[in-house]
Amino acid sequence: MIGASMSATNDPIEILSRRFIDAIRGAFPEAGEGVDPLIRPCGQPELGDFQCNVAMALAKRLGKKPRDVAGAIAAAVDLSGVAHPLTEGAIAGPGFINIRLLGDALAASLAAMDDAHLGVAPAAQPERVVVDLMGVNLAKQMHVGHLRSPLIGDAIARTFARLGHTVIRQNHLGDWGLPIAMVTARLVRLEAAGKIDLNTLTLDQLDEAYRAAQMECQRDTAGLEAVRRFGLGPKAEAELEAQVEGATEAFMEARRTLVALQAKEPKTYAVWQRVRDVTMRVCMDVCARLHVDVTDEHSAGESFYADELAGVVGDLVTRGIAEESDGALIVRLDDPRWGDIETPCLIRKRDGGYLYATTDVAAIRHRVQRLHADRIVYCIDARQALHLRQVFGVSLKAGYAANPMTGRDAVMRHAAFGSVLGEDGRPFKTRSGESVRLSDLLEETVVRAQKTVKERSPDQPEEESRRIAEAVGMAAIKYADLSNDRVKDYVFSFDRMLAFEGNTGPYLLYALVRTRSILRKAAAAGVGDSWRRVPPGVNEPAEKMLALTLLRYPAALAGVADALEPHRLCQYLFELSGVFGTFFDQCPVLQSEGAVRDGRLRLCWLTGRVLEDGLTVLGIPLLERM
Ligand code: ARG
Repeated sequence: MIGASMSATNDPIEILSRRFIDAIRGAFPEAGEGVDPLIRPCGQPELGDFQCNVAMALAKRLGKKPRDVAGAIAAAVDLSGVAHPLTEGAIAGPGFINIRLLGDALAASLAAMDDAHLGVAPAAQPERVVVDLMGVNLAKQMHVGHLRSPLIGDAIARTFARLGHTVIRQNHLGDWGLPIAMVTARLVRLEAAGKIDLNTLTLDQLDEAYRAAQMECQRDTAGLEAVRRFGLGPKAEAELEAQVEGATEAFMEARRTLVALQAKEPKTYAVWQRVRDVTMRVCMDVCARLHVDVTDEHSAGESFYADELAGVVGDLVTRGIAEESDGALIVRLDDPRWGDIETPCLIRKRDGGYLYATTDVAAIRHRVQRLHADRIVYCIDARQALHLRQVFGVSLKAGYAANPMTGRDAVMRHAAFGSVLGEDGRPFKTRSGESVRLSDLLEETVVRAQKTVKERSPDQPEEESRRIAEAVGMAAIKYADLSNDRVKDYVFSFDRMLAFEGNTGPYLLYALVRTRSILRKAAAAGVGDSWRRVPPGVNEPAEKMLALTLLRYPAALAGVADALEPHRLCQYLFELSGVFGTFFDQCPVLQSEGAVRDGRLRLCWLTGRVLEDGLTVLGIPLLERM
């Protein structure tokens, strides 16, 4: 497990697992190593806190009776200091073993968790983890489709960092190649004709220029053929011919521009720089507003690797890894070692042009050979799955993925995600069918959030409600995205994401604010802070439930790193908020006295800490009040 550490744990499941593994080993040496004792929260809390479910499967394997196996395990297990001794009645049904923790042990585990790391021990073997996130394309407006990669990527990056790994974020910008040369060529021309001022260029203008450049470079030969086939006459033919000619001219110009860019010809390069700056400014503004930690220094786009492609391809050819096929160069991957992929990876076209895949192979070489990555996580659209499998395969076959420091191949994984849909279940668009600008979407979310915030606290000054709405809005949008199983599509709904009830960002912020407010009230009532050193209360069922949930936090984080699934943490925090709500309703804090009150205050404090930590790992802004 990438997330888990080898050191002491406070998680009852892990503690019990170790005790039961020892018992199984003692009672059934023939079962061999690596038996998972299957410790789970007890389905019926009145019977116990946890249950061990291993007896049934083990009995089958050993040809014994399940209840006998359960009995032997129960007799052998040493639960001293952790749980009540097991009696006859602990074995239920076909052979479940019910376990009841000792209250003192639970309180002690919880108190131990209240340290600087919240029980999350730093990774025993820290790795260098590259997270590929964002990858926007130059000269294109950012829309809702650009939301998921940075949100998921940032959450995954924060999770690894939280677990003690070294994280390197990489923004694999689409900033090179013929399409970029096309728009650059057009801008050079427009500027020369005095039709555009590069100093005041906006991303919307660029977006328009990009589309126009695509059009003018497209040869409408199909149209010409149709004119001829249907005999539409010489005039139509001449008109279209001129268009095709013009397109060819624009196309040739784009090719010349690409060569000029490659040679860093100052004038052309300066225009390209401008295109890049304008795109990046919008991109970085969006990231900053979303609390996504991606800045200019994380940019290593296609242009960054442009000069390396010839060398990479040359190397692959010399070493016999790439081969010629119809004038193009391909790498065959139909071997289990390279992923067993039918379709070979094309790395150079017949016309000598390189591809998206060539750049990604060069990027892996850079990330492993120079950045010394032990692990690379790609937060990219699910539709690029084959592309990634191919470039992983090529880099393994070429040895580029072998980390020079450890000699091991970097672990390369695709954290694939689905699309954002509108409420009609189709790709999210404006009413008029255009894609929604991301900056507009964020602003609309905040405006709507402010309406709700004002309804809830009408007396708040405007400035304050706007500040709270900003955090609530970003929490809403981010949580709505992250809380979904990432490989699935999800439906974007302002109303649902902004609700203060249910599995939403605002609901979690509200839970956090409640923990804060109770501690503020305690301070105002002069309670002091001696409760910080009092064992957390675990006597009432609701206290116990809260305690058990809190102790699951380190495992929840480790689960996110293992599966690359931030929604697991969302689900955990949602559950925690729920059990905290029950505790809050059933266990009066400030109306209690003495050790009971203090134990409860400590539970509130710890809940607040875990919520704060978890939300921060998700990249969600915090609030003290709302
Ligand atoms: N620019 C790419 C696109 O728009 C995304 C880049 C993802 N990262 C990568 N290493 N390929 O599809």
